Amino acid sequence: MKQKEILLFGASGQIGRNLIRKLTKNNYKITAVTRNIHRAGYILKTQANPGYLDLVELKNFNSEKIDDLMRKASICINLIGILYEKRKDQFKLIHTDLPDMLSQKAKKYSLDKFIHLSALGIEKSKDSNYAISKLNGEKKIIKNFKNYIIIKPSIVYSVDDNFTTSFMSLLSILPIMPLYFNGKTKFAPIHVTDLVDIIQSLIERENNNLTLECVGPDILTFKEILQKLLNAISKKRILLPLPLPIAKLSAKILQLFPKPLLTEDQLNLLKYDNCSSGIYRTNYDLGFQTNRKFDIEVEKYSYNWRSGGQFAKVDEEKIK
Ligand SMILES: NC(=O)c1ccc[n+]([C@@H]2O[C@H](COP(=O)([O-])OP(=O)(O)OC[C@H]3O[C@@H](n4cnc5c(N)ncnc54)[C@H](OP(=O)(O)O)[C@@H]3O)[C@@H](O)[C@H]2O)c1
Repeated sequence: MKQKEILLFGASGQIGRNLIRKLTKNNYKITAVTRNIHRAGYILKTQANPGYLDLVELKNFNSEKIDDLMRKASICINLIGILYEKRKDQFKLIHTDLPDMLSQKAKKYSLDKFIHLSALGIEKSKDSNYAISKLNGEKKIIKNFKNYIIIKPSIVYSVDDNFTTSFMSLLSILPIMPLYFNGKTKFAPIHVTDLVDIIQSLIERENNNLTLECVGPDILTFKEILQKLLNAISKKRILLPLPLPIAKLSAKILQLFPKPLLTEDQLNLLKYDNCSSGIYRTNYDLGFQTNRKFDIEVEKYSYNWRSGGQFAKVDEEKIK
């Protein structure tokens, strides 16, 4: 069977790298678009066998170049996303204007599908520019092209994520970890392998015109997530609820860093639960089970942050 040609934007990110591995192993041919082929190339080239992956450098979303790429594609997947703005209106550009442009082109070149990664829990977050821009992007896609699939995952975690790995790094050095909103915000973390399995199934099935929330098997509060990470790295730390005014002040300061740990916009987003909303179907409704449990999966790579490393005996280790 002739496999489909997939055009992938945002390929060098966590989901992109894992998706490339999964799809190329299953004989899909991928054209991966990146802003800097020299920086991303060495990571991306190792994700696929020769012949299955083409790398294309694209700067400033050059419309004519995107037209050329779309002409040859049968499926376009957009994984481009940012967590904080470095310039005014960057959320709008990346999360609204870009998916608007890509979905229009997907229609123009009669692609089989346009698959777009949005986010979970953004419907109520009217005070977050991230959430507003993501939601507006979804609306544009739905208006532009009927063969859309919008995927809205909760936190996506894995050994190569920016979430569990960053928190394990912080927890291993900081004696106290702040809890925002008392650590009560709920998440349904999904392992990246489960997510890319779902994406591959959606490529192969007939489903289009679909907005799908993707969640893992556990619903965990932020505090429970930190406790599980602490357990995995065999450390004890103080988890300290921060009063809102202090939390806001800390976000104001932290967002000044080049790679901010927390911004005011993210703090606003943290107010709202990040699990299935009841508005859309979830992976479970379509029969996609996500069986990887958070603590079991994190345990597999947490030794990187544990005293003594992989071969330390956890039960004999002194809990600090
Ligand atoms: N990971 C999660 O927990 C999670 C949860 C919910 C939703 N999502 C969504 O899923 C999608 C993929 O997530 P991910 O974690 O794989 O993303 P990621 O690692 O943060 O980044 C995805 C890619 O976006 C491109 N990108 C970043 N900033 C850009 C900019 N200013 N202009 C153009 N391209 C830019 C980068 O590609 P190049 O550097 O190669 O150009 C990057 O590799 C995103 O839309 C994200 O919002 C992720």
